[in-house]
Amino acid sequence: MAQIVGGITTSHIPSIGNAITNKQQDDPYWRPLFDGYDRAREWIEKVEPDIVVVVYNDHGLNFFLDKMPTFAIGAAPKYHNADEGWGLATLHSFDGDVEFSWHLIEQMIPAGIDLTICQEMLIDHGFIVPMSAIWSHLPEWPVKAVPFAVNTVLMPVPTAQRCFDVGKELGKAIASYPEDKKVVIFGTGGMSHQLSGERAGFINKAFDREFQEKIANDPESLCKLSHTELIKLAGAEGIELIMWLVMRGALGKSVNVVHQNYELPISNTGSGIMVLEPA
Ligand code: DHB
Ligand code: FE
Repeated sequence: MAQIVGGITTSHIPSIGNAITNKQQDDPYWRPLFDGYDRAREWIEKVEPDIVVVVYNDHGLNFFLDKMPTFAIGAAPKYHNADEGWGLATLHSFDGDVEFSWHLIEQMIPAGIDLTICQEMLIDHGFIVPMSAIWSHLPEWPVKAVPFAVNTVLMPVPTAQRCFDVGKELGKAIASYPEDKKVVIFGTGGMSHQLSGERAGFINKAFDREFQEKIANDPESLCKLSHTELIKLAGAEGIELIMWLVMRGALGKSVNVVHQNYELPISNTGSGIMVLEPA
């Protein structure tokens, strides 16, 4: 049977991608951030996953304001990367696992999770930046991927509670896959940031640290946060943190924190990474 061996939460800031392309990992500004990714890589090389499910938000590349699914899942043999305007290098395509994707779809939709099924899907920086932070040293991606997109762009976006509940169904669907596959779930985005408007540049370190603590030990309390509270506490784009709750819901009741890191500021963002294992 498939087994969820862990989860990684990480910011997906585009400038991290450019720092990798320009080999700036050892610059004093970037080194503390990349130390966090180095620890995550050491862990992932130990657990050797076959598949990653990447919960992220599309920022206007594959979906735009004309058509915006609340939850969408990839069921494609290949996912091509493109840059929607950050000047990021286009990276090599990711292999999908079509059979595994369809298993998730066939379990989750009857369980009440109305997914948009994408048999073609372009992946943007929300997906590719965390992947390259872990695996940029390799010529090929060493895992297959299932992109799982959450609308965090066009209001109304799904509630924190809904994201956690969707994660629980995702976890059940993965665990019922009959083949032996090791799966890691990524929840990308956040932490606190606001890219435009009167509060552009807003960062809330105290909230970010509390969110990291609670995502591990008390995710139910985070589910109570309304959109207005989340935006007040984490900034307009900080609402991307709801994707961490999808990942956390899939991991089950308790987790062990294998590693965590928080760096401030990276670009406009409080940048956090955590590695969690089901307890
Ligand atoms: C930044 C953060 C994001 O999550 C994003 O999608 C784009 C930019 C930033 O901090 O620069
Ligand atoms: Fe983002």
